[in-house]
Formats: sequence, C-alpha cells, structure tokens
Amino acid sequence: MTAWKFAITAVAVAFSFVAIVQVRGQPSTEGFISIDCGTPDGYNHTDNTNIQYVSDDQYIDSGVNKRIAQNYINSSIPIQDVTARSFPSGSRNCYTLKPVTADQKYLLRATFMYGNYDGQQSENPNTSIQFDLYIGVDLWKTVNISDASAEYRVEAITLALADFISVCLINTGSGTPFISALELRPIKPAMYPEAVANQSIVLYLRRTYKPSSNQIFRFPDDPYDRIWASYTEIPSDWTTISTNATIQDNQNDRFNAPSTVLQTAVTPIRSPTMTFLQLDRESGPTAPQYYVVFYFTELQSLNTNAVREFSIYFDGSYQWHAPYRPAYLISDYIYSISPWYGYAHYIFSLNATANSTLPPFINAFEVYTPMFLSNAVTDVSDADAIMAVKAQYQVKRNWMGDPCNPTEYAWDGLNCSYTASPSRITSVNLSSSRLAGRISDSFSMLQAMESIDLSNNNLTGGIPYSLANISSLQVLNLTNNNLSGPVPDALLKKADAGLLILRVDDYLLLCNASTCPCNGSSCQNTISTVKKIPKPVIVILAVIPAILLAVLVLTLAITRGTMCGKLPDSHHDSFVPPYVENPSETPGEPEEPWIPRTKRRFTYMELNNVTNNFSRVIGSGGFGVVYHGYLENETEKNVTEVTVKVCHEISSQGTKQLHAEAESLTHVFHKNLVSLVGYCMDGDKLGLVYEYMPQGSLHDHLRGTSGVFRALNWGERLRIALEAAQGLDYMHTGCQIVHRDVKTSNILLGQNLEAKIADFGLAKMIGGNEHVSLMSVCGTPGYIDPESLRTLRLTEKSDVYSFGVVLLEIITGELPILQGQGEEIIHLVKHVSQFIARGDIKEIVDSALRGEYDLNSVWKVMDMAMRCTAEAAVERPTMTEVVMQLKDSLITETTHAKSKSSYGDSSETSQISISGTTTMSIGPSS
Ligand SMILES: *[C@@H]1O[C@H](CO)[C@@H](O)[C@H](O)[C@H]1NC(C)=O
Ligand SMILES: *[C@@H]1O[C@H](CO)[C@@H](O)[C@H](O)[C@H]1NC(C)=O
Ligand SMILES: *[C@@H]1O[C@H](CO)[C@@H](O)[C@H](O)[C@H]1NC(C)=O
Ligand SMILES: *[C@@H]1O[C@H](CO)[C@@H](O)[C@H](O)[C@H]1NC(C)=O
Ligand SMILES: *[C@@H]1O[C@H](CO)[C@@H](O)[C@H](O)[C@H]1NC(C)=O
Ligand SMILES: *[C@@H]1O[C@H](CO)[C@@H](O)[C@H](O)[C@H]1NC(C)=O
Ligand SMILES: *[C@@H]1O[C@H](CO)[C@@H](O)[C@H](O)[C@H]1NC(C)=O
Repeated sequence: MTAWKFAITAVAVAFSFVAIVQVRGQPSTEGFISIDCGTPDGYNHTDNTNIQYVSDDQYIDSGVNKRIAQNYINSSIPIQDVTARSFPSGSRNCYTLKPVTADQKYLLRATFMYGNYDGQQSENPNTSIQFDLYIGVDLWKTVNISDASAEYRVEAITLALADFISVCLINTGSGTPFISALELRPIKPAMYPEAVANQSIVLYLRRTYKPSSNQIFRFPDDPYDRIWASYTEIPSDWTTISTNATIQDNQNDRFNAPSTVLQTAVTPIRSPTMTFLQLDRESGPTAPQYYVVFYFTELQSLNTNAVREFSIYFDGSYQWHAPYRPAYLISDYIYSISPWYGYAHYIFSLNATANSTLPPFINAFEVYTPMFLSNAVTDVSDADAIMAVKAQYQVKRNWMGDPCNPTEYAWDGLNCSYTASPSRITSVNLSSSRLAGRISDSFSMLQAMESIDLSNNNLTGGIPYSLANISSLQVLNLTNNNLSGPVPDALLKKADAGLLILRVDDYLLLCNASTCPCNGSSCQNTISTVKKIPKPVIVILAVIPAILLAVLVLTLAITRGTMCGKLPDSHHDSFVPPYVENPSETPGEPEEPWIPRTKRRFTYMELNNVTNNFSRVIGSGGFGVVYHGYLENETEKNVTEVTVKVCHEISSQGTKQLHAEAESLTHVFHKNLVSLVGYCMDGDKLGLVYEYMPQGSLHDHLRGTSGVFRALNWGERLRIALEAAQGLDYMHTGCQIVHRDVKTSNILLGQNLEAKIADFGLAKMIGGNEHVSLMSVCGTPGYIDPESLRTLRLTEKSDVYSFGVVLLEIITGELPILQGQGEEIIHLVKHVSQFIARGDIKEIVDSALRGEYDLNSVWKVMDMAMRCTAEAAVERPTMTEVVMQLKDSLITETTHAKSKSSYGDSSETSQISISGTTTMSIGPSS
C-alpha cells in the first residue's frame, strides 16, 4: 500500500514540473454570465474581480427593478446587492440563461440581499421572506431570508441539458420573491463527478482557513469563481501553517481548488487528533444527504525522520479513510463518491497514526447536498423553437422556464404530450394574441405538432412552405390575418388528401390560380415564395451588357492622373469621406488593423518590388489581375504576405475622387472584411494592396477549383456564412457601404477558414435613405437583385439578395445559374424553390456533405435564403437579422454535432477510478 502510494506521488511530482512551465495569466471569463438583477436595461459594470455584470433585461421579461434602502448601502456591500428584481405578480418567474452549451457542467449561483428594498420592514420587522428557487423544473433550494442586512448565496453544480438553463423563483405564499444577482460559470467536465445528468449538487458549506478573517477568495484566484470564505472561528487549541509557494493541481484533478486557498492549513497545537467538521441533521434539510470534499496539501518540507500520517474517522470510532500522507505542495483531496445519509450527527475527525511524528491538518473542505433531477423536460428542439417564437412575437403571458414542465406551470396556449420523456409540444394556440409580422419559420421546427392556431392576428407575408414539413400536423388555422398568397401546394395537397384541416381566408386560395397575382387586395403585393423569380436570368443577361457598356464609355473618358507617389498630400486628406473619420465610433466590431497604418500609398515601382516583378499571378477578375507579394514592415522588421490587385482602365469618376475612395477604404476595419493595406495610382492603373488570404475563396472551396478543394462540412459552411454576413452587416450598418458585388468568389478564407468579404472597392457611399444611381450598378450575373434591375437602384437589400444566393450555393454546392435540360438555363433560386415546393429538400443539399448535417439547421438557412431572395426588397430581411438567424442555426448545428459525438465523459464520471494522488472512499450507509 505504502509503496504504491509513493509511486503515484512520484508521478505527480514529475508532472508538477510540466505544470510549472505552463503559461500563467489572468484566467478567462469566457462563457461567464453575470447578471446584476434589478439594474436599468442596458446597464453594466465591472466589479473588483474584473468580471462584467450586466442588467437582466435580456434574460427575463417579468418583475420590477428595486433598490435596497439607503441605510443598508455602504462601501463594503457588493455592488450587485444594491439592486434587486422583485416579482410581486405571477406565481412563477424565470430567468433564461443563454447561451450555454448542452452537456457542459456549470456552477450556478444566485445571491439575495433584502435590504428592506420594498419598505415593508419598518412596519413589521420580524417578517421573514421565504420562496422556492428552481433550476429548470427541479427544486434547487427554499430561500429563507431572516436578516435584512445579510447576503444569502445559493450555489449549485449542474449539467446543462439544453442550450439554456432556466432559474425560476416560485411564490409559495410566504413573501414576494426577489433576487440580487445571478451568476453562471462553466467548469471542466471532469470536475465534481457527483454532478451528472440526473443529479446536480447544491453547495452546503465551503471553508478555507486563511488567517485574516472575513477574507473571501474567488475569481481570478479561482478561475471557476467559487467563493471561498475564511473560517473565522479557529479554536484556540489549533494553529495555522502556511506557505507562499504555489500549489500545483494534481494530475487529473477533479476539484481544482485554487493555490491561494490551499496555502494555509489548520493543525492542533498539542493533540494528535482534531474534529474539524460536525453537521447536524437539524442544521440541514429534513433528511440530509451529504457529499464531502476534504482538501489536504502538505505545506512543510519534511525531513527524513518526520512523518505526517493520519486517518479520517467518522463519529470518533468508524475509520472512514485509511492512514494517509498528504503530498508536498500538490493539491490533493479525499471525497465521498456516494452520499452520507441516515445519521443524526456527522462528525469528522483526523487522528494521527502511532507512527506519525506530526499532527494532522486540513487546508479546506466543501460539503454538498444532492439535488435529484426529475428529467421532466421539454424536447430540446421543441423548446428552442417555441422560445424563438416567443422572442419573435414578444409573447408575454407566463411563457417562462420549461415550456411543458412542471405540468402546473406549462405555458398558456401550449398542449404537451407527456407519454414519453422528453415531453413534446403538440399544439399551440396563439389565436387573438396580437401577433404581427411574418409567420415564424420556427413553427415548422416543432416536429410533434398536431395543431397550430394563429387565427385573428395581424400576421403578414407569405405562408412558409416549411409548415408542410410537419408530418404530424392535423389542424392549421390562419384565418383573419393579412397574409399574402399563394398557399403552398404541399399544404393544399395535404388538405385535399384529408390529412390536414386547413383554414385560411378565401382570397388566399384565389392566389393559387395560374394568373397569380390575383385581384384580391391583399394579393397585390404578393410575394409568391414558390413561384417567384420568373425570369431574372433573362433580364440580367439583357441588362448587363448595357451596364458594362456604360461603364466602359465612362472608363475611356477618364483623365490621365499623375504618377504614383507624386500626388500632393493635401489632395487626399481633403477628400476623406466623413464616414471613415473615426472608425472606432461606428457600430459593429471594428478591429485593429493587422498591419501598421503608416504606409498607405505605394508607387508603381514599390508594387513592382512587392510582387517581385508581378511574377506570381494568383487570380484574375473582372477588374484586373491579382498578384501575390511580400510587404516589408520597416518598423517591426518583419515580412507580411499580401495580395496586389492591379486594375487597368478603372476610374469612372476622375482620379481625385477615386483616390479619396481608395484612401477611405484603407480605414475600414472589421475582422470579416479583407483589409485594404494600401493603394497605388498610376495613370490608368490602380493598384490595391490587400491582406493575403491563404485559403482562397469560398467559390473555389465549394467547387474544387484552383486546387484548394477541401470539402467543407456543414458546420464550417455555416460559420463561413455567418462571418461573411457579419462583414456585410458591418459595411451596411457601420459604414453605410453597399457592396454591390457579393458572391462566393468575393468571400475569402484565411488560414483557419475564417471568412472575410473582399472587393468592396466597388462600393460607394450612400447617404441616408438615398439610393444609388444606375451609373454604378455593377454585379455578377446570377447574383443581381432583379428588383434593382427594374428600378435601377441599388440598396443594402440588393446585397441581401446576393447574399441569399450565396446561402443557396452553400447549401446546394451549385452555381447561381444552372444549365437545365437542353438549352434552358435556370436560376438557382427558382431551382431550389421547385424542390422546396415538392418538399424534398434533402434532394438538393450538396452531396459533398454526405448527409452529415442537422436537417433543422439546413431548413433554417434555406428559409433565410428564400427570404433574402424575395423579389420585393421590402420583404427581405436586413443583414443584421440574417446574422442573428445564422447564429441561431450555428448553435442548432453545434448542438447536433455534439450530441452525435460520444458521451465518453459522462460515462467516465460514474466510474470509480483512482488517479494521481487522489483517494476516494465510499461512505457507509446505515
Ligand atoms: C457597457 O456599458 C457601456 C456604457 O455604459 C457601453 O458602451 C457598453 O457597450 C456596455 N457593454 C456591454 C457588454 O453591454
Ligand atoms: C455595511 O452594511 C452591512 C449591512 O447593513 C453591515 O453588516 C456592515 O457592518 C456595514 N459595514 C460598514 C463598514 O459600515
Ligand atoms: C509570505 O510572504 C510574506 C510577505 O512577503 C511574508 O511576510 C511571510 O512571512 C511569508 N510566509 C511564509 C510562510 O513564507
Ligand atoms: C479520533 O479523534 C477524535 C477527536 O479527537 C476522538 O474523539 C476519537 O476518539 C479518535 N478516534 C480514535 C479511534 O482514536
Ligand atoms: C508503523 O510503521 C511500521 C513500519 O513502517 C509498520 O510495520 C506498521 O504497521 C506501522 N503502524 C501503523 C499503526 O501504521
Ligand atoms: C391589428 O392591428 C390594428 C392596428 O395596427 C389593431 O387595431 C387591431 O386590433 C389588430 N388586430 C388584431 C386582430 O390584433
Ligand atoms: C381554427 O380552426 C380549427 C379547425 O377548424 C378550429 O378547431 C379552431 O377553433 C379555429 N380557431 C378559432 C379561433 O376559431
């Protein structure tokens, strides 16, 4: 036994050398959710732990903001406790914490300080407030507030079952529930093995023995932000020992107690024994069960004759753990893998063995109680979908927490099926609920739905064809809305076959005549989602040459400019357009340039050097040839790869303005826009120096041209789409630039496939709501917004159209214009809508994906693409909406991908394994 122990310790010591060289720094707050409840919407503050706390408006939509009474406020109480959210109405009120990652383990903490926030205390000083706190559908703790000036904390370790965690306060008739702060911290999956899918653990006690009393250790000392309170009542026959040396985690550490907490221990002064923990049945819940974690780290370097060895005794006589020698400066612990229960007292003591020359000690301990989970939850994708519906229509009602559970709190208007676990949503009745806007695409994600009633609302827009995708749907009532037709064929067919009771207003049915749009007033501005895009291709082909001609004519008329490098400085400064004056003040996520901004203008000779005599051509596009080059950076003495685009015969507006334009573009920075490093103007030549994107374009990746082919998986495609959308959104909202030539070959990929939008050199400033004139309508056939060809105006919505085509390419892998049978050419939008009308979307998904995708996620993107390519610009979403929807789809896909990968971790946690110097014992049951 002893030999075995020694060997393991040696391994752990060797390991500690590795640990020492690891990079140290401020731990990350990534994934933290920190809510200061009751603060005004949009408020945030960063506390002395450097964690940013935000207001609760995005996490809850009920309750009222309150502030504690002035006489309770002083500099020593945490800022989070100054305000509280109170819930005078509704028996259940829930916070929805999002985003979280399903199957990830979290520490969850709620904080309460009453502070007489409601002014009730002076009238009735003895009132105690009591209410229940739930995690999802399970009771977490009954909160019992008796001291108005005390801070109460409730903490649990829990495994997220979905991509959100809800925390609910339930009014049990003993006072108005309120809350001061809510905190969520991701922890490592291996930590706290007692917390598993069907059991969370609730903190009962956590103690450390730092000598300075009242001191609290948390983040950043503890990267998981546990709060370690110092034990203030150290008995007089104990003393502390401490070290300043860093204590290393042991190999496979399952508790990761921070070094600062373990640097002090308590030890008896004269006695070889110490009783350090006593729990009474009375002090805990009625039938308490306890998990314990005792932390031991030897802090003194023992000489060869010294031995510190002790056993852990329960109730004085039962030896719970065999003689044990803590390791020097390595974190170690002994914990119970099954709970203690059934005793009247729980008394733990450390007794030195006869061979020990030194007394026992302990550094810290934790006690948890188990919280059994009912697992009565709503199916994750149903819950996601109905939450998206709730968000879209701002449904208030009692729509909080889990939609179906517990049954007495199921959401109004929903029916659920509880026959199997998880519960499924089977019907939604939102009749007469003042819904406005389009019918949410999320309804079609509710795949167990039997009845949807959306009658008597103000819904507009088309009827989503995806509704026909719900195989179990038996009733669909859409009467008394302002919807436009036609009714998707697939729905009509189901109704004809008697599979669906379909109720729609009569005028909509008229729309399905072949003469659509029909005469019904609501049909005038109909966007037929199925039959749209009648002949965009033909229009494009006819108009494009005319535009090119116009550009060409103007191009030939340009005046010859001065040589590169000789332009007087005063010229370009006065032409910098206002929108780039201070890029850091624009919305979006402006990023620092990746190259110092010192050099922006190049001479032709310099470009010649940069590209090594224009020797390496890496592409050519409509506007010139693209070269590879190296740029030397004098200040940082390094070399950067760049792309140089040389456009001949470019300007249509005279050199001055072009110059200003190029200059201005060098100020546009965003992580999803290819940076323009500099430019050169030499007569009819315009040289543009861009950041180099080593992985080429999305177009090439999808098609396998240019030798960069690597089949992108669906997750990668989604992420690329999202990043490109973010770049475009920034151009639109941050810079008021319309790109005008969005296409897959203008979406470039960096080393790790991060996407950036290229070639916004064509973009022109747009002022306010004014549209752009035709003179500069440019674009690539297949991507051009058919409406702008008719109206001769280009707006952000034209980019949205083109981006919709990009999304369809990402899904299908097809080109925007396809060769149909024979001579016929067919536009991708039309091609896809034919398949959608038939309902076989799997047929058109790119076969290179080999079926490895989440169909829901593809549907969402497909729906978004169809909305983007709506024929009328007003029907199209903004890029901001597109970004939000794509984020959502990416989360769906990530969850899907995760759930497919193995659950190796969770099965491991239920095993008993001994690792490092860790030792475990099973508690006795009576
Ligand atoms: C925090 O508040 C400041 C202004 O009070 C605001 O500029 C900033 O965007 C806020 N941050 C977050 C994450 O909400
Ligand atoms: C601050 O207020 C709290 C709560 O009312 C009280 O317990 C504490 O003693 C006060 N501290 C100081 C420094 O006044
Ligand atoms: C730790 O460092 C402090 C300050 O540097 C010193 O006062 C103290 O004696 C040190 N403690 C130990 C155990 O070395
Ligand atoms: C262990 O120590 C405790 C506390 O001092 C004492 O009550 C108990 O009798 C001891 N048990 C044994 C077996 O020595
Ligand atoms: C004390 O040490 C000796 C030799 O190392 C060993 O044989 C004996 O069992 C030990 N006694 C106890 C009580 O641990
Ligand atoms: C539709 O909206 C109008 C005003 O926008 C309102 O008067 C009417 O009550 C709404 N209809 C329904 C059914 O909610
Ligand atoms: C909608 O239609 C269904 C099927 O006919 C019917 O059961 C339901 O009551 C209707 N809803 C309203 C509000 O009339």
